[in-house]
Amino acid sequence: MDNILHIPSTVSTNEDAYKLAVDGAEHGFSVLADIQTGGKGRLGRQWVTPLHSGLCTSIILRPKLPFVEFPRITLTAGLALCKVVEELTGLESFGLKWPNDLYCEGRKCGGILVESSSPVTSDDESFVVVGIGLNVNSRLDDFPSELRETVTSLLVQTENSYSMKDIFTQLRNSLLSHLKIHEEQGFGVILEEWRKRDVLYGKEMQWLTIEKKVITGTGLGPDDTGQLLVKDGQGKLHSILSGDVSLKN
Ligand code: BTN
Repeated sequence: MDNILHIPSTVSTNEDAYKLAVDGAEHGFSVLADIQTGGKGRLGRQWVTPLHSGLCTSIILRPKLPFVEFPRITLTAGLALCKVVEELTGLESFGLKWPNDLYCEGRKCGGILVESSSPVTSDDESFVVVGIGLNVNSRLDDFPSELRETVTSLLVQTENSYSMKDIFTQLRNSLLSHLKIHEEQGFGVILEEWRKRDVLYGKEMQWLTIEKKVITGTGLGPDDTGQLLVKDGQGKLHSILSGDVSLKN
């Protein structure tokens, strides 16, 4: 495969890809690891991949978009991932939880961590690293006990195992083509497809703000800029830029 650094083991493919992007790696260049020992998730969390059974990749993009649009690429990447998984498994039960999670039947199957170059980087040199973790051939017993009630994998959902390289190739192609749609036809086209897969839409949900305040309300999906809209019990509309959201138990 071209434009790919395939390594047996690393701490975090996002860290590797970020350094390569700073050094000038081109659009589409990717880091793929068989084992990741310090995978990073959103909000400073850890991303755990059972040995040899999960996909860990980070894909460098040099978007032809203004910097203000870079955070929206998390949603574009989520849609690209969800469509690949739907096609591979033939299942329609996969969905997206704002802003970056792939879900299936209430359990997390994958996640995305987008890291951007600094806002002061010139347009020519700016980039995003799209880190994707996907639970592929793992059984529930392969995960630490505290995660077994909340995760799933393609194998668990379908009883089939999948080639990591094939998934990677399809995923990179899907990400590059969805970014092109975002750039050429606008984010609205991405959002239309994303909203069809929104697992929080119309549901009672909770939002933990950065200040650790819990707000409960009904999920109304992402607005035209990708921020999540939530209507609380008093009818007040909140627009969420960041933070942790979950279905209310
Ligand atoms: C999340 O769910 O919070 C995001 C998880 C992202 C994990 C992937 S695995 C490949 C890449 N390298 C990392 O360190 N993180 C991302």
